[in-house]
Amino acid sequence: MTSIRDKFARLGTDHAPGQELRQADAPHHGSLLGDSLPGEPVDFSHGDVNADAFAPTPTALDEFVAGVHRGGSQAYTEYRGDAKLREQVAERMGKFTGRPVDAANELIITPGTQGALFLALGATIHTGDRVAIVRPDYFANRKVVEFLGGIVVPVRMDYLSRREGAGIDLGQLKEAFRSGVRTFLFSNPNNPTGVVYGADEITAIAELAGRYGVTVIVDQLYSRLLYSGQQFIHLRASSGDASQVVTIMGPSKTESLSGYRLGVAFGAAPIIERMEKLQAIVSLRAPGYSQSVLRTWFAEPEGWLQERIAKHEALRDALLLHVRAVPGVVARTPQAGSYLFPGLPEMRVPLHTFVQALRVQAGAIVTPGTEFSPDATRSVRLNFSQHHARAVAAVQRMTELIVRYAK
Ligand SMILES: Cc1ncc(COP(=O)(O)O)c(C=O)c1O
Repeated sequence: MTSIRDKFARLGTDHAPGQELRQADAPHHGSLLGDSLPGEPVDFSHGDVNADAFAPTPTALDEFVAGVHRGGSQAYTEYRGDAKLREQVAERMGKFTGRPVDAANELIITPGTQGALFLALGATIHTGDRVAIVRPDYFANRKVVEFLGGIVVPVRMDYLSRREGAGIDLGQLKEAFRSGVRTFLFSNPNNPTGVVYGADEITAIAELAGRYGVTVIVDQLYSRLLYSGQQFIHLRASSGDASQVVTIMGPSKTESLSGYRLGVAFGAAPIIERMEKLQAIVSLRAPGYSQSVLRTWFAEPEGWLQERIAKHEALRDALLLHVRAVPGVVARTPQAGSYLFPGLPEMRVPLHTFVQALRVQAGAIVTPGTEFSPDATRSVRLNFSQHHARAVAAVQRMTELIVRYAK
């Protein structure tokens, strides 16, 4: 039996995205090599939503203010979210994913995609349940499962071995399902690697989940930010029987609306209903005035999304050129999203010391690979949704430090 202290120790957030600033005063242990490199700091642990980088959707603030003016009706929505908004969002999600969504029963608005993730898992996992989690995948997945008393069953994803598809080990997934896994959670596009699951992989996941009666929670937060010609297959549309599939989405990333704390989950009605019950004891509802901002989602001005994707793609390519020029660095080209997950050469210091060196000596905050997989001890994650020139300069400094710290 673990104590409450142990339970929370496992939730350590010091290296989680957005928390690195907390380490500003951490001791260097005298292990940093050479001098600092001058330049404007860049926080690659999350995207930059400021006006000179990737600003929120143009009319978001107007919708928020309109929500405030609506007063009580917007402040106190149903727990699962304002009914009219759910209708609008359900219609858009249905069109986007290729399978209709019933606004009354199959959709809930949550505080951020993170809220959707926690509620979906909380509504699905019972103590002792086995839950399959991909390695590497979003840092919170493993933590939430463990927190809820689930048993994590890792499934390998050999993303570096292919140029298309994610590289999930379908044999291992099948074995996990066969051996009693009840729930499978994965992000697609994958965070931290930016890979997109291929049609073959999604078809196989749908088939296996159907055969073994596994509930699948798929986090598709980045599924609008797809690079040139990239195809995306929605699991809920590929499943003959979608009654055990929950899809999670939100406007935090592509649309830079993270500050409004909005997310949605849709799919299996009984799970959505349990999520609402859980939401009722956690936060009651997603922030009422913010909910109104969802009106802008999937209704952006003509060309806005294309421009946003093109800017990210240009930045992706510029950064890849720099990191790939460093001997020993391996990096797969992300097919979607805004993450680079380069593998580093063998270093003279442990990963966390190198991450500290990047922050202190190069002004580049990155997230250690171990947040996403315990064996990613030679990878770092960068969110490249940043001001273009500043990001390129910071990555150049990073490459200098990789050379300096490499064995
Ligand atoms: C895969 C994934 N899911 C969920 C979240 C949480 O996002 P939100 O800001 O919408 O809560 C993130 C944020 O980085 C993410 O990358």
